[in-house]
Amino acid sequence: MSTPETVAGDALDRILTLELARVTERAAVAAARLRGRGDEKAADQAAVDAMRRELNRLPIDGTVVIGEGERDEAPMLYIGERVGTEQGPAVDIALDPLEGTTICAKNLPNSLAVIALAPKGGLLNAPDSYMEKIAIGPGYPAGLVDLDASPSENVTALAKAKGVPVSEITACVLDRPRHAKIIEDLRSAGVSIRLIGDGDVAGVIHTTDPDETGIDIYMGIGGAPEGVLAAAALRCIGGQMQGRLVITRDEQVERAHRMGITDIKRKYTMEEMATGDVLFAATGVTDGNFLQGVRFGRADITTHTVVMRSTTGTVRYIKARHTQLDKFHLD
Ligand code: FBP
Repeated sequence: MSTPETVAGDALDRILTLELARVTERAAVAAARLRGRGDEKAADQAAVDAMRRELNRLPIDGTVVIGEGERDEAPMLYIGERVGTEQGPAVDIALDPLEGTTICAKNLPNSLAVIALAPKGGLLNAPDSYMEKIAIGPGYPAGLVDLDASPSENVTALAKAKGVPVSEITACVLDRPRHAKIIEDLRSAGVSIRLIGDGDVAGVIHTTDPDETGIDIYMGIGGAPEGVLAAAALRCIGGQMQGRLVITRDEQVERAHRMGITDIKRKYTMEEMATGDVLFAATGVTDGNFLQGVRFGRADITTHTVVMRSTTGTVRYIKARHTQLDKFHLD
């Protein structure tokens, strides 16, 4: 039964969902000003500054659990940093003010400003390591694909469930030497592979709308923080995802232990990486398959953002035209 507190909490969550758009919009505009300049660091720093500034205006008692790194490595938006006005719900936050720094520096497709919010303890506190990932969109039987099956077994199961030959399946894979075996296995099965240079949060999200993006399945090893962000998005839109940390160095083992992870070989489901009422927002920095990048007009700035909430499953696309440009000059 709903009580005044839960009704108030729900209203706040609904407002927050839309407020989150402002946070990613600001970060995206700041990064987009430095698009194509070949300077990853400057673009990332601009996005971090802008996101932090806007985040601190939100009526939340937030803690960054996936951020720019450990406190000694990152002066802002580091893991454990408290953000928001501290007057509001206690939430954990996963963020990447500029996902795809190299893409932005080269002005290539699919760099994003992204953030996810969940109730305290709702997001996997993943260390800054790699993660094996596999993801497909909604509408398939649970457990259809699995990290422990081979790439060709997974695409064969997916093709069968989709009712198409394997040759009509497209897999998205990061273009890295470490994926040589996956690529070889997929190609021998006859799958089309979309090799991406960077940006696997977008890669995973693309699986949720194959008609639009042309991507049916994402697989391979990418960043663990990006894995949690992608899982948060998929929790809201629907789909399936598994992740398993790839931890090779002793210091990573220690870091994982410090973050409360005892079984470093554990296979996480999407729900285990992002639990409870999850909110997610992303704004396009450069043009992409599901979000256009920032447009600078003569008297306005246009942004394209998606905001989502897992409890309701609502996915909103917000095209915003900003005319109070002085607000963005700070960025
Ligand atoms: P950055 O935004 O930090 O540059 O990350 C881009 C990215 O491509 C992620 O999307 C992906 O998870 C990770 O890097 C892959 O790491 P690596 O470049 O080391 O293979």
